[in-house]
Amino acid sequence: MPLTRKAYRAAILHSIADPAEVGIEASYEYFEDGLLVVENGQISAIGHATELLATLPADIEITHYQNALITPGLIDTHIHLPQTGMVGAYGEQLLDWLNTYTFPCESQFADKAHADEVADIFIKELLRNGTTTALVFGSVHPQSVNSFFEAAQQLDLRMIAGKVMMDRNAPDYLTDTAESSYVESKALIERWHGKGRLHYAVTPRFAPTSTPEQLTLAGQLLGEYPDLYMQTHISENLKEVEWVKELFPERKGYLDVYDHYQLLGERSVFAHGVHLCDDECARLAETGSAIAFCPTSNFFLGSGLFNLPMAEKHKLNVGLGTDVGGGTSFSLLQTLNEAYKVMQLQGARLSPFKSLYLATLGGARALRLEDKIGTLHAGTDADFLVLDYNATPLLSYRLKQANNIAETLFVLMTLGDDRTVLQTYAAGKLVHQR
Ligand code: GUN
Ligand code: ZN
Repeated sequence: MPLTRKAYRAAILHSIADPAEVGIEASYEYFEDGLLVVENGQISAIGHATELLATLPADIEITHYQNALITPGLIDTHIHLPQTGMVGAYGEQLLDWLNTYTFPCESQFADKAHADEVADIFIKELLRNGTTTALVFGSVHPQSVNSFFEAAQQLDLRMIAGKVMMDRNAPDYLTDTAESSYVESKALIERWHGKGRLHYAVTPRFAPTSTPEQLTLAGQLLGEYPDLYMQTHISENLKEVEWVKELFPERKGYLDVYDHYQLLGERSVFAHGVHLCDDECARLAETGSAIAFCPTSNFFLGSGLFNLPMAEKHKLNVGLGTDVGGGTSFSLLQTLNEAYKVMQLQGARLSPFKSLYLATLGGARALRLEDKIGTLHAGTDADFLVLDYNATPLLSYRLKQANNIAETLFVLMTLGDDRTVLQTYAAGKLVHQR
């Protein structure tokens, strides 16, 4: 295969460690005039432009950006494809919101043409917002996952998804059975898991909508294939937590339900965890499980404030999730804007470099993909963004007052959104141009 080598010159920033572990200064690399070299879909070098250019052939193709910042592609560790059409549904908290809006909306995915249409809209929306990898809930229908993976495969995206398993406490038109969910998930795993950059996630919706038999089979699937993911929800809403106690009185608490059915592990991602206790955080950390922190959703559904400092105390892996359609934006920049406020309301801070970490390397670690995505290190996938300092008149004016990269980064996360993403690259190919 001929070597395709291209270089991108701009300011470049990436997170290289968790600020909670190494301190802020050692957590990132910043090149004011940087160069990113891409070969055959991977990053082959990163550094100061003048130094790196001296080592490269004089005729290398260079794209030079002014007033722009190159960062890794963003990673959304929790989002629902079949809720694209119901973002911003009025008035309810979690359990009523599910019954009133979510289940009817997800039922439309019984129709393959609808699933194809929404998969296309959904992927475009991810890329417009600079999200290059997401951990995605489908609906109960296998075709929701087929449509999604077909569209993701065409663009060679690194994506993870699974069909929802749900065999009780939901309308009949939207439930599977323990047995059918096992068979259908298995067929999807055989078809998609490990194909190109695609991975499968076993997806029991949450404890209340699965019988013990279904949870047992979910655990069994995880044991049958290597490197499968598991995604579900946990301790998002106080009524939900009470309901789980009623449904599983024999278990110590919510997390213990999942633990009992062997659903914890290094590729298990639990959305929300707003009401987790100290012991549960410790157990999640001990098993290498991760939490998806979903601030826009937690505000919108009135669920509560996620305790990031407690997660940090336990060295628990945390990624960032939009949780569309409980969340109100596909933009992880806007999600970080809200994450900052979650910390403010708890008398804590969220530094811009911790935010960058959560949306990139932290997400990659939650997904055990840090050798492939989340940074701009040589040898990783060339999934990266070009953020435009002049995206809006206000952003442009505000950034002229910024004195350093910390301030610039914080303003990008506070004022930024899809308009800020000038270009998105996946595996070295341009997949979105504003
Ligand atoms: N818990 C169970 N299902 C869902 C869902 O679709 N969205 C959110 N936010 N929480 C859930
Ligand atoms: Zn969710």
